[in-house]
Parts: sequence; structure tokens; C-alpha cells
Amino acid sequence: MTEHSTGAEIVFDAITKSYPGQGSPAVDNLSLTIPRGELVAFVGPSGCGKTTSLKMINRLVEPTSGRILINGEDATAKDPTRLRREIGYVIQGGGLMPHMTVADNIAIVPHLLKWPKSKTAQRVDELLDMIGLDPSVYRERFPRELSGGQQQRVGVARGLAADPPVVLMDEPFGAVDPITRTRLQDELVNIQSDLGKTIVCVTHDIDEAVKLGHRILILQPGARIAQYDTPENILAAPANEFVEDFIGSGSTLKQLSLKRVEEMDLWDPPIARIGEPADEVVARARAAGEETVVVLDDKDRPREWVTLRQVQRHRVLPEPTVELSSVVGARSTLSDAMSAMLVSSHGGAMVTRRGKFIGVLLYDTVNDYVRTLKAEAGDSEK
Ligand SMILES: Nc1ncnc2c1ncn2[C@@H]1O[C@H](COP(=O)(O)OP(=O)(O)O)[C@@H](O)[C@H]1O
Ligand SMILES: [Mg+2]
Repeated sequence: MTEHSTGAEIVFDAITKSYPGQGSPAVDNLSLTIPRGELVAFVGPSGCGKTTSLKMINRLVEPTSGRILINGEDATAKDPTRLRREIGYVIQGGGLMPHMTVADNIAIVPHLLKWPKSKTAQRVDELLDMIGLDPSVYRERFPRELSGGQQQRVGVARGLAADPPVVLMDEPFGAVDPITRTRLQDELVNIQSDLGKTIVCVTHDIDEAVKLGHRILILQPGARIAQYDTPENILAAPANEFVEDFIGSGSTLKQLSLKRVEEMDLWDPPIARIGEPADEVVARARAAGEETVVVLDDKDRPREWVTLRQVQRHRVLPEPTVELSSVVGARSTLSDAMSAMLVSSHGGAMVTRRGKFIGVLLYDTVNDYVRTLKAEAGDSEK
């Protein structure tokens, strides 16, 4: 494994951006600290200044006044070209160069940095593995030979290629279908927790922000801060009416505390046991068309939820060393289950009855339920 650089702190210090000919500033005196190694989601209505704020971090847009500090260094005084090599940038659709292979697209920044060929090639393969595309199959393909979701993945790999401490993402999953989006979100959460990058991710989707963000920045027009806090705190205590409207009716969230996990459809994943040969586990899961397995101990307690790639690192399934944080009882409320999911990097919670595993409550199941509640609330208002 390559040694990875960890994240950097980003500070917006009284940043204002006025575009010529615009009546009011796109970003009006924004001050904000993004802690090192966190994923912060910028959300807010269209035109509120999310993209402008993001692009000032890598100087694709120059602030009218104020400073941006990255690990204490004034980015506004740094050479923009150098700066952009140190900051990954991922845009909607991936933004790949159509005439370049997947490998060459990923290698753009390493190439600019004049990495030796062998180091670059190794890095490209490592990243393709990480985003779940077999290097021997995809390395030499062209973007047009990939699905939208695969192109987006390659865009993420390109953003991470030179191992930058900071990665900026602007609506990275906006253009892919909902199922692929969920997978990419899960992958991003895993990558972030493995690599400890500082990631700033712009989205207009509050559900995506809740799922991805350690913190969420909710912006009003002019990039004025409506609330900046953890998803849990924002959901529990919206700062004002704007935030309340933005996250959906308060009654939806209250209803989550009235519904029990056992009333929901649970997913029945492939099961594996500690000590089982890894290749048998992989074969069984693949036959079921699944990419993850839940590991149980001899008392049927859930102990780990792992990808097949993680399983393949071992000959037999080892005793898990960390405790699963996303375990809830069947009688728990959905709001408890949501909290459990939010602290884990998985897109779901393990559900137990008297300690024994009975299934997985997927984040998307709760999400769909929330959507139904919102739709019902919308209907009754008419
Ligand atoms: N290059 C530009 N020139 C002039 N106005 C712009 C430019 N880019 C964005 N704006 C304006 O600045 C405001 C914020 O835009 P933007 O940062 O793209 O918002 P968001 O990403 O939240 O949708 C909008 O009113 C938009 O019209
Ligand atoms: Mg935008």
C-alpha cells in the first residue's frame, strides 16, 4: 500500500465574491472552518453560491475579498496551478477527456507532477481496484465504452490520483441513476474513512448530505450560513424555518421515532462465519449476486459487515477486532436506527432480536419510507 497523506483544514475567512454585473454578491462574507479529515457537505437551493464557494478553494474562482487558509497557508497567495495539483476536483459526470484512456485520464495530475511511469501505472491500478473496476479490463478503455456510473467512478479516482489532502466534489453523483448513486455514495464514505481526506462535497440533495457528511453546511442565497452542524444535530434541532423547510417537514422526523425497525422490510444478506475459508464465502456471495457479507459468531451475533474485497485479503475469516457500531434491536425506533447508521460507514444497520441477527435495515429503505411520508404530507396540504 502507498502511504496516504491525510486531510487538511480549510478556513474561509470573511470571503466575498461579487461577479461583475450582479446586484448582490454570490458569496457574502462567508466565514467557516472545515476540520481536517472530515467530509463536509454544502447544501442549499440552486444559485445560493455553493459552486462559487467550492471553486474559490482551488482558485477556479478568485474571491473579491477575504482569505482561504489551507492548513494555515493562504491559498489566495499561492500559485493557482500548483494549488490545483494539490487539490483533487471531481465534477458531475466525471468530466473525463474523451480521447484519453481510463488510465491516462486518472494519470493526468501524476503526469503533470512528473511521477515515474511505473509509480503512475501502479497508482492507476490501485485506484481502479479501489473503485471496483478491474484494472486489466478497464485500464485501456475509453470513456465512451463505460457506463455513466463507471465514468463517474473514474472521475473520483482521478480526483484522488495524486493523493491530495483535499478533494472537492461538485454534485458528483447528480448524473447517475439512483441505484448506482447509492453504491457510489457508499464507496465514497468508505474511501473517506479509509484515507482520512478532507472532502468538500456540494449537493442539492439533503438526503445525500445526511448520508455522506460528518457535517452539513446549509446555505441560503449569498452563501449565508443557515446552519452548520452534524446531521444528527440538524435533524434534531433545525436552526430556523429555512432549515426546517429544507430538510422536510418536522413531522416526518417525528414519525421516524414512532415507527419500529421490526415493521420495516429487512434485507437478507449472505452470511459468513468466523473461521470459514474466505474463498467459499466469496463464491457463495457471488452466486447470490452480492458484494458484501455479514459475519456472525457462533451465537448468531452480527460481528462485521464486509465487502468481498475485504474478505479476499484473508485465507479464513478472522475474528473481528472492532465492535460493530451499527447494531439495533428489532424494537428500536427508526430514528435510533438512523443515528446508528450515521455513525457507521455502512449504508445500513444490523438488526437483532435477543442478540441474534435477523437482517439488515438499509439506509435506502428508511429513505424510501421518509419519501413516502413526505409525499403523504404534501398530498394532505392540497
Ligand atoms: N461566472 C459567473 N458570472 C456571473 N454570475 C455567476 C457566475 N457563476 C455563478 N454566478 C451567479 O452567482 C450565484 C451563485 O451561483 P453558484 O455558485 O453557481 O450557485 P449554486 O452552485 O449554489 O447553484 C448565482 O446567482 C449565479 O447566477
Ligand atoms: Mg452549483
